Amino acid sequence: MIPAIDSKIRRRFDASAGRYDRYTTLHRQIAERLLSRVTKMPAPKICLDVGCGTGYLTRRLKDCFPQSEITGLDFAQGMLEAARVQNPGIAWILADSRRLPFSDGHFDALVSNLAYQWAADLPQAFGEARRVLASGGILACTLFGFQTCRELFESLDQAKAGQLQFARLPDTNQVREALTLGGFREPGVDREEIKITFKGMHELMLWLKAVGANNLLQEGYLGPEALLRAAAIYKEKFSNQQGVESTFEVIWVHAQK
Ligand SMILES: C[S@@+](CC[C@H](N)C(=O)[O-])C[C@H]1O[C@@H](n2cnc3c(N)ncnc32)[C@H](O)[C@@H]1O
Repeated sequence: MIPAIDSKIRRRFDASAGRYDRYTTLHRQIAERLLSRVTKMPAPKICLDVGCGTGYLTRRLKDCFPQSEITGLDFAQGMLEAARVQNPGIAWILADSRRLPFSDGHFDALVSNLAYQWAADLPQAFGEARRVLASGGILACTLFGFQTCRELFESLDQAKAGQLQFARLPDTNQVREALTLGGFREPGVDREEIKITFKGMHELMLWLKAVGANNLLQEGYLGPEALLRAAAIYKEKFSNQQGVESTFEVIWVHAQK
């Protein structure tokens, strides 16, 4: 049984599956950088991509490691269907990252691009990752972090005088702690900030919806007037010459079992 918060997230990703690839240049760029780290390691025999979405990274892993057995896993059926259509030669599994349907020690590498930030219980999800890794196996992943879209949160918050509640993403300390609770010893955790320019706040919100990430607003009704106020605040505070800026914090994880 998938808890309510997770099924909401899953439904949003399902809904975005058809348009996801058109809007995710950022995700693919980060996937390529993750891949260049992973390909510096010895080729894994069996590798799992957790939260594979439409399968870009999974497919690229197969290109780089043609002899390896590569599996993509996601809990959104629509995403997996898109992945399967584009990549018939890869195994695709519908499952939740918190309950991986594999035996202990099955994989020697587990990769994941921008998916673990959505896990409702991060220590449990990392504990599962560790369980299915063989001894010496590697977890290499990226997550969007707490500072992601901070300008949007600040503008909305100011427009509604603090009446809204947001589902902010985990920060580096929470990620490190979750890895440790999941059983990884001395995990490597790094962060960076990437700035992206959008035409305006409205375009940023449409983009978040297109990529399935519009579940960050948790409680409280925004209303059209507050939205307009927030857009004006956003423009006033975070404009550059091309539009408005949004921060995306990327957390990089490298951990060994
Ligand atoms: C932002 S997308 C990233 C997809 C892909 N890795 C990429 O780089 O484009 C996040 C993906 O994680 C999946 N996801 C989120 N929470 C999950 C969970 N608990 N178990 C399995 N998949 C999950 C979503 O369905 C979605 O496809």
